[in-house]
Amino acid sequence: MKVLIATDKPFAKIAVDGIRQEIEAAGFELALLEKYTVKQQLLDAVVDADAIIIRSDIIDAEVIAAAKQLKIVVRAGAGYDNVDLAAATKAGICVMNTPGQNANAVAELVFGLLVFAVRNFYNGTSGTELKGKKLGIHAYGNVGRNVARIAKGFGMELFAFDAFCPAEVIEKDGVKALSSAEELYSVSDIVSLHIPATAETKQSINAALLGRMPKGGILVNTARKEVVHETEILEFMESHTDFKYVTDILPANDAVMKEKVGSRYFSTPKKMGAQTSEANINAGIAAAKQIVGFIKDGIEKYKVNK
Ligand code: 3PG
Repeated sequence: MKVLIATDKPFAKIAVDGIRQEIEAAGFELALLEKYTVKQQLLDAVVDADAIIIRSDIIDAEVIAAAKQLKIVVRAGAGYDNVDLAAATKAGICVMNTPGQNANAVAELVFGLLVFAVRNFYNGTSGTELKGKKLGIHAYGNVGRNVARIAKGFGMELFAFDAFCPAEVIEKDGVKALSSAEELYSVSDIVSLHIPATAETKQSINAALLGRMPKGGILVNTARKEVVHETEILEFMESHTDFKYVTDILPANDAVMKEKVGSRYFSTPKKMGAQTSEANINAGIAAAKQIVGFIKDGIEKYKVNK
């Protein structure tokens, strides 16, 4: 039984060692493909893999067709928009994620980006504090909950909108549950995005929503670039010269953003939210355990292509 780790953005070595231990203890073999530069390397590596552990790596119909032995793909992380679920289901392949395992890491980065933003990107000018500001958490899943926990330490006032999470669940954390995105943006000095990339959310964060925010608003994106309308954000920032955008997902229009609104915009060059040893260990080992449980005992917990 061959398990392949295919990660363009590698896990910390300590996480790979932990995954290896789990896989070898089960009597399986581990193969590693890291930092691949062309798709062909992935296509070659999956040929004899029974199971694959990935991160944001693209598993499309072509990869699935090349992986003749494949039984399971585990996305070590939360979002699985990088996997062609229909193609996997058609080929009888189980797809899982590892929900919650990297949530704290992503939530901590939200505040790394926010402190940077409110202090004017450390340019020496006088900034503001997070204390007392209204934070809108857009979607209250594992990351959103961790954001709320940390925000309380900063003394922020908390609001959330989640189309699927019941208001009682949100409010028991001391967060005010609102009933629409429009309401959330209308009250929030800062909005933190935690919505998945789906057909419904694609480009949904647009100028109309941002226009509802109070003066001096900040949008922080540690979710997906697909959920924001990049062109409208640029136009909005050009006409609202007090608005800031900080993101952990490099926009397609990064160069023009830097040129036109560069003093109020920052993007990490490569998605860093889940890039901690702890998150790599948590998500990587969870993925390895889920593969062993699936192959040995048919356990399908966390299957996402039902
Ligand atoms: C996730 O969906 O789990 C996060 O976006 C992290 O993605 P990454 O594993 O590619 O860093």
